[in-house]
Amino acid sequence: MKKIVIFYSLDGNTRFIAENIAKTIDADLLELKLKKEINSKGFMKYFWAGKSVMTKANPELLPIDKNVQEYDLLVIGTPVWAFTYAPALNTFFEQNTIKNKKVALFCCHGGQKGPVFKKMKEALIGNEILSEIDFQEPLKNDHVKNIEKAEHWAENIIKSL
Ligand SMILES: Cc1cc2nc3c(=O)[nH]c(=O)nc-3n(C[C@H](O)[C@H](O)[C@H](O)COP(=O)(O)O)c2cc1C
Repeated sequence: MKKIVIFYSLDGNTRFIAENIAKTIDADLLELKLKKEINSKGFMKYFWAGKSVMTKANPELLPIDKNVQEYDLLVIGTPVWAFTYAPALNTFFEQNTIKNKKVALFCCHGGQKGPVFKKMKEALIGNEILSEIDFQEPLKNDHVKNIEKAEHWAENIIKSL
């Protein structure tokens, strides 16, 4: 079974979890990167990033070097922005037809994940959603506990297949 962890991360939390999951289940890693990345320093990021969610923006991504169609299991991760997934994933979902895949979802947030998983599932209709899990700013909070949580979750997904 071919496995891939696909994610976007502005401040590194989602990347931190994605890397640990990929290592645990021996999956490839695909980081979605914006052609024009938001400056992650300072308060303005909330303005720009928040606006891009509200306007349902499809920001341009840098070219992707993986063919998602080759994979059986997709683990997809996002930071929570305004209670939903980051706009980079809008673009990814639009540019890649994801159907008949096994999918697991994770997110990183600051304490209010809202309906992020419901919205991801709506965008991923036609796939089998295996599991979902959220992490509260793992880089600021207990690293070790969050790594263990991510590893345990990822191992259980593989066991359930
Ligand atoms: C524009 C913006 C909107 C956010 N909206 C939310 C939110 O609705 N709920 C929440 O709990 N955290 C929110 N956050 C905090 C992030 O979800 C949190 O810091 C997350 O860990 C960031 O992941 P990253 O480091 O991978 O970018 C927001 C952050 C930004 C920049």
